[in-house]
Amino acid sequence: MPADFDTIVNLATKRGFVFQSSEIYGGLRSAYDYGPLGVELLRNVKEQWWRSMVQLREDVVGVDTAVIQSPLVWVASGHVASFSDPLVECKVCHNRFRLDKLEDPNRCPECGSSDSFTEPRAFELMFKTHMGPVASEENIVYLRPETAQGIFINFENVRRTARKKLPFGIAQIGKSFRNEITPGQFVFRTREFEQMEMEYFCRPEDADEWFQYWLEARRDWYLDLGMSEDNLRLRPHATDELSHYSSGTYDVEYLFPWGWDELEGIANRTDFDLKAHAEMSGQDLRYFDAERNERFYPYVIEPAAGATRTTFAFLIDAYHTETVRGETRAVLRLDARLAPIKVAVLPLSKKEELISVSRELADSLRPHWMIEHDITQSIGRRYRRQDEIGTPYCVTVDFDTLDDRQVTVRERDSMAQDRIPIDRLISYLADRLP
Ligand code: GAP
Repeated sequence: MPADFDTIVNLATKRGFVFQSSEIYGGLRSAYDYGPLGVELLRNVKEQWWRSMVQLREDVVGVDTAVIQSPLVWVASGHVASFSDPLVECKVCHNRFRLDKLEDPNRCPECGSSDSFTEPRAFELMFKTHMGPVASEENIVYLRPETAQGIFINFENVRRTARKKLPFGIAQIGKSFRNEITPGQFVFRTREFEQMEMEYFCRPEDADEWFQYWLEARRDWYLDLGMSEDNLRLRPHATDELSHYSSGTYDVEYLFPWGWDELEGIANRTDFDLKAHAEMSGQDLRYFDAERNERFYPYVIEPAAGATRTTFAFLIDAYHTETVRGETRAVLRLDARLAPIKVAVLPLSKKEELISVSRELADSLRPHWMIEHDITQSIGRRYRRQDEIGTPYCVTVDFDTLDDRQVTVRERDSMAQDRIPIDRLISYLADRLP
């Protein structure tokens, strides 16, 4: 059964994963801030993506391009002309909806009125602002709605400087902005979010094969990080769903509490973008194959994931409750690579002689992992808190420690406990943690 939505939102806000943005001013709808635990989880998700997509691959390099680019980029890419959603307004309650997301296009889901919608109009999804001191039509710029275009416009720079031959990929993680009509479901759909995208350039005749390859590789990434296979599926887009640049797309979907929804899109973007930028800029962006003595536009396979959305899915997927000795325990069974805190160090009581040992121990572990030194509340409550935030190991310093220089290590999922000498603790944990 998928986890209950309210429970996850409650956990996320109560434990400091995610806060409503501008909360002290009443909150800004559809923007969120990541708290001390959320920022670690989000960083770990991005780190794992980068490791699998860039670090471990000979054929992929990374970039970090500007959020604000020449407005011509968005003309060439087709976003200025066609990056919009069909918007309708209910003439009775004045709520606005995306026409393509309505269950019944003739009935308002808010007030129930029939045939009360205005004619659909295209709602521009890009955020506009002005560059420079004067706000005029000439200096309109956009906040990027996808990180991908920063990669396409640097194709030749990267190919030349990284000395890459086809097939090769360029990866990027960064913020994107979309003025969504219907943001919602917590951090699932927001107006400011983070993406993890990779453009894989290949010979046109090899594109189908690489498309299949990336479908499988991306699905395996989620599974390898512990996402439940039952909650993950690949769904092909129907022809009328395809983006303007795509000849074929699959979504990696997750079974969210409200049903199946998109985590990542994997698209065959063909040579649409490179050709469009070559035409708009006047630069020759064709690839030269010296062995075959031919010049052509490569095709592009694009796995495009949401970092914030994926982080949310990992949080939901890891959440479990179970009964232990008659009590309900909530535990986040996050893969240790994703867990925000790897080890909690807990003195059994607030006695100064225990705290000085546990603090010293925590300090000795900090260069290796994210550590929490927690001296508040009863030991039982502290264990429960660490379970609920997904900490794989708790190390407890008790009064015997003062004599035998040993500590108790408790593993999160099995709750099994080992007594370990302090001078062997780092190697014990290193055998079990990333
Ligand atoms: N470059 C292709 C592209 O941007 P997309 O399917 O529109 O494709 C890719 O976006 C991923 O970015 C989505 O699968 C989703 O995970 C994430 N994403 C898109 N819009 C989002 C939003 N408003 N809030 C959070 N994540 C979003």
